[in-house]
Amino acid sequence: MKVLFVASEADGLVKSGGLADVARALPVELIKDNVDVKLLIPCYRPLIAQDYPVVADSVSVQVNMWDKFGCRFRKTELDGLTVYLLEHNVYFDREGMYDDGNQAYEDNGLRYALLCQAAFSLCETLDWFPDVFHCNDWQTALLPFYLREHRQFDARFNQAKTVLTIHNGAYQGYVPKHYLTNMGIHERFFTDAVFESYDQINLMKGGLIFSDHVNAVSPGYKDELLADETSHGLGYFFRSIQDKFSGIINGCDYGQWNPEVDHALPANYSAEDLSGKTTCKTALQQEMGLPINPDIPLLGNISRLVDQKGYNLLIPAMRELLSQQDVQIIVLGSGDPVITADLHSLQHQFPDKFAFYKGYSVDLSHRIEAGSDIYLMPSIFEPCGLNQIYSLRYGTLPVIRKTGGLKDTVKSLALNSSNWKTATGFGFEEQTPEACLKAMKQALKVYLEKPERFKHMQLTAMAKDFSWETAVKPYLKLYKELTD
Ligand code: ADP
Ligand code: GLC
Repeated sequence: MKVLFVASEADGLVKSGGLADVARALPVELIKDNVDVKLLIPCYRPLIAQDYPVVADSVSVQVNMWDKFGCRFRKTELDGLTVYLLEHNVYFDREGMYDDGNQAYEDNGLRYALLCQAAFSLCETLDWFPDVFHCNDWQTALLPFYLREHRQFDARFNQAKTVLTIHNGAYQGYVPKHYLTNMGIHERFFTDAVFESYDQINLMKGGLIFSDHVNAVSPGYKDELLADETSHGLGYFFRSIQDKFSGIINGCDYGQWNPEVDHALPANYSAEDLSGKTTCKTALQQEMGLPINPDIPLLGNISRLVDQKGYNLLIPAMRELLSQQDVQIIVLGSGDPVITADLHSLQHQFPDKFAFYKGYSVDLSHRIEAGSDIYLMPSIFEPCGLNQIYSLRYGTLPVIRKTGGLKDTVKSLALNSSNWKTATGFGFEEQTPEACLKAMKQALKVYLEKPERFKHMQLTAMAKDFSWETAVKPYLKLYKELTD
């Protein structure tokens, strides 16, 4: 089985969120199952600076009938996985991956059309033709279309199957319609039944139509995509492809996220001996400039600062909690300026209780996972979510909103605590700050008043297994079904 995995980011090289974690860990796991898999991502500015070896120069990538783009492929490796980097400096040597910090690049459609077409050029260059092209999100949603429309008579490709994994259905890749021709999309496809949404090109819609299989990154999110209220406006579309649509939960890369061996931590620990977790807690308090005291409950949160992550619930809930109780909260994140300003203002209001690190730091994210007692993840929607899964392994009990993948991976403690022997976190449903605060207080009550019970829940959480070794199986089955 040969699979070309195409994505817009990959952990260890360039990352903005969980897509990068999956684009690394899933192919690496596939190799262990004897799949011949290669990964293709763009060569963004920080990668150009690395000067990885060039494997092919002056490759001409054709996007439409007329335009050919001179590109280069570089090559590197992640845990034994060969990663090809598509270099085209006009499109990818830029400040950010998708935007300049404020605004999405206007020509994103063309940039990722080039990535999709380059996937075929890469195969030609390597003289290696996959059985499956595995695409991820809107950035690679054009590939199935190009395969069926541009390559339909090319015997090297036309037997190949395509999988499109939806990591986040809220980002659909809207492109102004004047790009149609330049992107090689004939205007007969610019209808509501294919690419058109609100008089613009919607890349994800086209991807849903032309892919041989589509999957959401959890069964819970799959169900939400089928329902009008929670499908980001595409419910009717997802329902129309139901027979080729599934939900497959992500795994966790325990090679990166394991408190027993994590190099970013000041001390390691395991379920057998949690003492290192206390060391991590006090070191984190010190690092973040908070009073050092292992007895004060510490709540953590790491995230892209976007509405999806529920800051409209969390910020008022945190403000209330900080003014009522002796707690500490640490937030690590970057993104939306309004959310950023709100977090700064909380820090000014509660300098001894609340610490906000604005920015992106992988090492600090590991230390927050380890040093916190409770993890906050009150997302409005969450296709899968990885931080709650990391939190389980680090014995940091998550407070979640019961949605999508959060609901699928965390077992919430009942209000009467009847299920405390099997619960792994705390949950709420209603999208209100009050409901969020109530769940945070429920977690704190167990932490402060029933420490034995809290510890039992920590051990239950740490024993949960979301390894890719298991999570890869449905993908293997899917590839087999598609190509048999
Ligand atoms: P999403 O993909 O929607 O952002 P996930 O929970 O699937 O959410 O994955 C987020 C990933 O990005 C996690 O690995 C998380 O630790 C990481 N991350 C998000 N924001 C930051 C940040 N500011 N610094 C470091 N890592 C971050
Ligand atoms: C997306 C989702 C997140 C998911 C990740 C990896 O960014 O927002 O829930 O875990 O992709 O699939």
